[in-house]
Amino acid sequence: MFDVQNLSSGYGDVQVLSDLTFGIGNEVLAVLGANGAGKTTLLKTLAKVLPLRAGALEWDGQQVTHTPAHELSNRGIAYVPQEGNVFPNLSVAENLSLGALVGTRPKDERLDEVYTLFPRLAERKDQRAGSLSGAKVRCWPSGGR
Ligand SMILES: Nc1ncnc2c1ncn2[C@@H]1O[C@H](COP(=O)(O)OP(=O)(O)OP(=O)(O)O)[C@@H](O)[C@H]1O
Ligand SMILES: [Mg+2]
Repeated sequence: MFDVQNLSSGYGDVQVLSDLTFGIGNEVLAVLGANGAGKTTLLKTLAKVLPLRAGALEWDGQQVTHTPAHELSNRGIAYVPQEGNVFPNLSVAENLSLGALVGTRPKDERLDEVYTLFPRLAERKDQRAGSLSGAKVRCWPSGGR
């Protein structure tokens, strides 16, 4: 699904990823490495949250090297941040509703999918998101938008 060729990425003067080439099929994959190894940088670069410095990306056989993050999310590629990813003063339902703004499939259908996948969220629809345990619940309507 993902074909990554000679990817380089980093921040300012810091080059973090150099010349990475790999492919990802239709599978669950974990990226392992020491603190600071570049795992987050890699995921952010693949989702275009961080720009590529060099290299090429293909998704399902199509070039997405220059496709911006908001268009990639419509194709099912999204980066879910490690933390700080809910609006703490909004309810669970409001957070999900905001996440569902992007995409073409009917919003209600996608919200139903999320509530089916995470039934506890349905129980807590009206609860302030910031009051959830850890306040780090990934409120993200499912891919395949
Ligand atoms: N915004 C930034 N500006 C400058 N350097 C950064 C920035 N974010 C990360 N780095 C540096 O990039 C390198 C890779 O960091 P990254 O966060 O990708 O590592 P990681 O493998 O995700 O680490 P962790 O296991 O701690 O989450 C580190 O040297 C880090 O200090
Ligand atoms: Mg990280």
